[in-house]
Amino acid sequence: MIRLIHKGYAPSRWADAYPAHLHIDLLPRAQGRGLGRRLMEVFLARLRELGVPGVHLGVGQRNAGALAFYQRMGFVRLQTHPWGYEYGLKL
Ligand SMILES: CC(C)(COP(=O)(O)OP(=O)(O)OC[C@H]1O[C@@H](n2cnc3c(N)ncnc32)[C@H](O)[C@@H]1OP(=O)(O)O)[C@@H](O)C(=O)NCCC(=O)NCCS
Repeated sequence: MIRLIHKGYAPSRWADAYPAHLHIDLLPRAQGRGLGRRLMEVFLARLRELGVPGVHLGVGQRNAGALAFYQRMGFVRLQTHPWGYEYGLKL
């Protein structure tokens, strides 16, 4: 992270309104059984308890499964980038 900062890394412009950030990566054998939804529900409930106003994430344009998942979880597309999309959810 320190190296990234010195390379000029800047946080997402969406981080003010959606300050939390997440990654979720289940192994293939754990996918499609409701575990992603459950993990997300626990994580989002804790963010709400902490008073966090929103959460943002990045996803590749070709990751159709993740795109469908995030939309089912209520995320909306915030911005399109050359590398993919940023999605956000107000809490
Ligand atoms: C994306 C991921 C987190 C979803 O978790 P999951 O446990 O497979 O998803 P769930 O079984 O909990 O599904 C939750 C909802 O999303 C939908 N969904 C999940 N994967 C989907 C897919 N491939 N296509 C369409 N819908 C999908 C389900 O239909 C379900 O809807 P419902 O609960 O309203 O009926 C998981 O598959 C994963 O880790 N994939 C590989 C890594 C990855 O791509 N991570 C995201 C990087 S940005």
